Amino acid sequence: MTAKFITLEGMDGAGKSTHIPTIIEALKARGLEVVSTREPGGTALGERLRELLLHETMHPETETLLMFAARREHIANVIVPALARGAYVLSDRFTDATYAYQCGAKGVLASKIELLEQWVQGDLQPDLTLLFDVPVEVSLQRLSTARAPDKFERESADFFTRIRNAYLQRARENPARFRVIDANRPLDEVYKSVEDIIATL
Ligand code: TYD
Repeated sequence: MTAKFITLEGMDGAGKSTHIPTIIEALKARGLEVVSTREPGGTALGERLRELLLHETMHPETETLLMFAARREHIANVIVPALARGAYVLSDRFTDATYAYQCGAKGVLASKIELLEQWVQGDLQPDLTLLFDVPVEVSLQRLSTARAPDKFERESADFFTRIRNAYLQRARENPARFRVIDANRPLDEVYKSVEDIIATL
């Protein structure tokens, strides 16, 4: 398998960000060039849009459009050039997050997201998506002890349940691309699972 475009997904508090440095090191140790990036964000304009997205209240469809505006910039300026020169791209979130948050949790029609996905991505899809999955109570518990919450992190348990279900459904619909990682375990065990997956690349 030649997986080059890798995305990390999961609810807020699932712990995915904790694993990013170790994944980068594991890939670099094999002599690979790794571009580590995130969404929303990843470019100067994308980071400005991220500030708006994370802190301003807006209509869910406005949110969706801005996510894809940032994504267009990210794909054109970061993802495609990196893949073209043979680098691995590791993105902390990508379009599955739009299906989980804006569609699953906020009710934006999947058909509208599909249109934007087709427009902005064409054939580009991640080769591998690691979904860090935890029960909603665990995610909420972790968030309550973390830094000041952003707009998304202040939502209700019901909101997080919809996100989790949407992610798990995406994983079921795309079994070749997704690996679901049980992140409700001690860190070293979760990392072992991640390492095993990375070793197969
Ligand atoms: P997150 O990736 O969790 O970063 P941090 O660890 O710094 O909080 O924050 C990004 C937030 O944006 C997260 O709550 C999910 C949300 N989001 C969407 O709602 N839709 C999207 O398409 C993307 C990429 C992110």
